[in-house]
Order: sequence, then C-alpha cells, then structure tokens
Amino acid sequence: MSDRWYKKAVVYCLDIDTFADSNGDGIGDIRGLIGRLDYLARLGVTCLWLNPIHPSPDRDDGYDVADFYNVDPRFGTLGDFAELLHQAANLGIKVIIDLVVNHTSDQHPWFQSARSDPDSPFRDWYVWSEEAPPDRHQGMVFPGEQGETWSFDRTAKLWYYHRFYKFQPDLNIKTEAVREEIKKICAFWLQLGVAGFRMDAVPFIIEETQPGNPNPAKNMDYLTELREFVQWRKGDGVLLAEANVEPDQLVGFFGDGGGSSNRIHMLFDFMLNARMVLALARENPEPIIEALRETPKLPKGGQWATFLRNHDEIDLSRLTAEQRADVFAKFGPDPDMQLYGRGIRRRLAPMLGNDRRRLELAYALQFSLRGTPVLRYGEEIGMGDDLALEGRDSIRTPMQWSILPNAGFSTAPKAELVRPVVDHGDFAYEKVNVTQQRLDRKSLLSWFERMIRTLREAPEVGAGSCTHVDLPAPPGVLVHRADDVTGTMLFVHNLGPEAGSVDLSSLYPEAEAPNDVLADREYPDLGKFREIDVAGYGYRWIRLRRYS
Ligand code: GLC
Ligand code: CA
Repeated sequence: MSDRWYKKAVVYCLDIDTFADSNGDGIGDIRGLIGRLDYLARLGVTCLWLNPIHPSPDRDDGYDVADFYNVDPRFGTLGDFAELLHQAANLGIKVIIDLVVNHTSDQHPWFQSARSDPDSPFRDWYVWSEEAPPDRHQGMVFPGEQGETWSFDRTAKLWYYHRFYKFQPDLNIKTEAVREEIKKICAFWLQLGVAGFRMDAVPFIIEETQPGNPNPAKNMDYLTELREFVQWRKGDGVLLAEANVEPDQLVGFFGDGGGSSNRIHMLFDFMLNARMVLALARENPEPIIEALRETPKLPKGGQWATFLRNHDEIDLSRLTAEQRADVFAKFGPDPDMQLYGRGIRRRLAPMLGNDRRRLELAYALQFSLRGTPVLRYGEEIGMGDDLALEGRDSIRTPMQWSILPNAGFSTAPKAELVRPVVDHGDFAYEKVNVTQQRLDRKSLLSWFERMIRTLREAPEVGAGSCTHVDLPAPPGVLVHRADDVTGTMLFVHNLGPEAGSVDLSSLYPEAEAPNDVLADREYPDLGKFREIDVAGYGYRWIRLRRYS
C-alpha cells in the first residue's frame, strides 16, 4: 500500500486575497483563511494550494513576485503564515504554495539592480540581448494581451526576455547563482513548514533561452537536482508542477527514465482536463477513454493531479480545431467567454447551465479518475463568474460565504473590495453561498462533503491503477475501475441525458459484498450485475471488493 500522502490527498486551491477578509480592508488575508480552516476540514480537504502569497505589484494576480522571502503585507505577516501552517496541521491539512521562479516582477530588486548597472551581480540573473531578437514576436503565452517575448529596456539599453507579460522578466537558469537561489527559496519555505510547492511554468523555468532560437534546450537535469535537494530538506516534501506540454514530453518531467520518479512528483493533467471538458460537451466519454489509453506510463511514485477548473482559462489548445469548436459551441459560445483564442474564462456551474445533475456528474467523474483531485475554491458551492471583469479575473471573484453584505467575505464598503462579489443573476451570493448550503443536506456543498469522504474511503483511486472497462455500453456511459492492494472500486458514469443500462455480469465473479457507495439516486439492488442501470447524467460508485 502506498504511504505517499500526495497520492491520497484532496487538494483545494485558493487565492488568499479573495477568500476571507479578517480586518475589513476589502482584501482577503491569512487570518481570514485561518478562520475558515474548520470549513475546509469539514469539506474533507487534506491539502491547500495557495496561489502566490508573496509581496507583488499584483499585475498578474501575484504571479509577478517582488520578494520571495516574505508574504504580501496585504495578507498579513510571516508570523501569521506560520500560525496558518500550525492551525492547518492541527486539522490534518497540509499547505503547499506557488513557487513562481520562471520570472520575477520587473519591480524585484534583482531586476532593478540588473538593469541599472552592467556590473551588477544580478545582471546575468536575467536574459539579455544586445540586438532585437528576430523571434521576439513568437511564443507569447497571452496572445492579445502580450505583443512580444523580448522587450527593450531603456535603462539597460538591452532587450530582455519575458515568456509571459512584459513586467515579468525571465530569470536565467543558465546562471549558477539563480539555480542556487531557487533552492534557497524552497529551503526557506520548507523550513517554515510548507508541504511542498506548486511549481509555476516549469517547461519555461528550465528553458535555456537564446535570442533567435525559439526552441531552446531544456535543462531537465535541474529538475533532478531540485528534487534531490527538496527531498533531502524534507523527506515527504512534494513538487506539483504546471507543465502543459505535448504528451510525448511529459514523462521526462517525472523522471530521467530510471525506474522511479526522480524529478517532479505530480503533474497537472492538462490532457485529461481538456478531454473531460470535451467529453462533457459532447456527452460522450470517448475522449476520456482515449486519454486513459494514451496516457504514458509514469515512473514509480509519479502521479497525476486532475482538475476541472483552476485559476486560469480552460486551455483547449491541444484539442483539434473541430473538438475545440464543439467545446466553444456548448460551453463558451459568446466570444466574451473565450480567451487567448484557446480557452474559456468561466466557472463550471455556468458552463453546465447550473444543472445540478451535470455538476455532480462532472465532479464525480473527475474525483474518480486516476490521480489526485484538485478543487478550486467556490466550485463546491457552484459559484458563477463575472464576465464584466477583465481576462481571467472573471473566475477570481470573492468566496461567497453568506447572505451578509459582500457575501460575508468582507465588511469593507463595496467599492473597496479587491474584486466585486457576484451579486446579480442566478449565481448572486444571496442564492449561492456556504451558509445556506451548509444547512441544507441536499445542497451541492453537502454532496461534495459526502463525495470527498467517500473518496477518502477509496484509496484505490489515488494510489491504484485506473482502467476503462471495455464492455458494450450505451453511447454516453463510461465504466472504469480502480484497483490496488486495498481493493477495487467500479464506476459507472452517464454523460448523456438518456437513462442507460450496462451488463457487467462478467465482473460479478470478482465481487465480494458489492454495494453502491455513492450514486445520484437510490438504485435497485446490484444483483448479479446483469443490468446496472444509470440515470441520464447519473453515476454510481460501486465498491466491488475490499481487502482488509
Ligand atoms: C501560470 C499561472 C498563471 C500565470 C502565469 C505566469 O501559467 O497559472 O496564472 O499568469 O503562470 O506566471
Ligand atoms: Ca484584509
């Protein structure tokens, strides 16, 4: 049995500034979060992933860091952060933080020093070019918001490289001091007690950028080195990376080809994310089945992190044009719902027409597929978005706690909130909030609590294998199973609107006192598995057997 904690974790992702404001200045803070830890514990969350917590000019929601060794004073102090770690640990919750070291803010003292003095010790911490690089209009991550990847700095009289926004100059991984500094940053936060890091933009961190070469080499060895370092400092410290790359490149991020993972422990499964969204749009599980079939085998210890929504747009760029068009048509028909020509800037509940059956189905599916589930704050109550806000801010509105003013997020005057609360339409906080759902045993929140608890009794999902059960099934129905030394779980999900039935009698011989542990309704007894019914948009989680 795997005792690696990250394989059995339920990760909850939140941004401190929009979660809970304790001092009424309109900005969420660490003390506010501490006050809500009991809520997260009740939900069944075992690990928090905090979006960037560091001081920042905040031009990219904190992904433009100005000091890696502190917390943003708007959120509190390092003392508050240490207290958060302590209180979370008391409730069995680990905390991982974003490690954003592909770039810094242009306001970071390192960059300020580097640009203003050719002899600065920080000069070669960044990537410069004397000539205008011919490929400077290639490789933008935010097309439409970003015109180039090299900009001219008038003080340095040089061009500098920035894979992301212009105010995010890239650090130069070829510089030994940069490689060492990244380790030092990790060491500092591990020493304080974080359980690991969500590493931002990993393929770009390790890129050995050269002007004029749009496809530079990647320094994979650095990942091996960093992993070794992290593990030495904290035996069970974990790296969870954002590496949205082509499938044939994925495995290299987990390890160097030996038997065990010796680089990143966990990678977000962007492929599965897009395929799940496509499957939901087409009401047909085929893309998921394909993803399960095509997913490369991971080295021992490697793990996927599954998600439906995160703090960014849903990235559909690895789908075919036709597949992408289908998803846009169903989930983001209005150009204002789309972003960067490749994505959707909406939350899941509005995408699914606020249909409770489809929401349960979608999350039951995500949480039952292989890997560690990651849930974005507010999804557990079915929060909506605010398309009046710019870009990705549409999905970054304050958490809706209650019917109190500002959704109970803050006592500040409305105009002073970090971002407006959703206060009109079907997703207004008067209709969608924690307090009401907490009191209602039939609410989406109560369902999430039950679903997560059920998952925590099914360690096969995170730690075991996940396979498609390839038997005849109606077009909308997916049957899959999770196996480990602890036992077997069987899952039936119906992505389509029509009720269906599957004959799983060939699995019956394996069953030992099987029963539905989670389902969208009460179904008749399983019998000999000859006719397993599932309602339109319904699902059944069946414990097939358990070894104890
Ligand atoms: C990652 C983050 C995104 C951020 C970007 C630049 O893609 O998820 O929010 O804007 O990196 O740091
Ligand atoms: Ca505050």
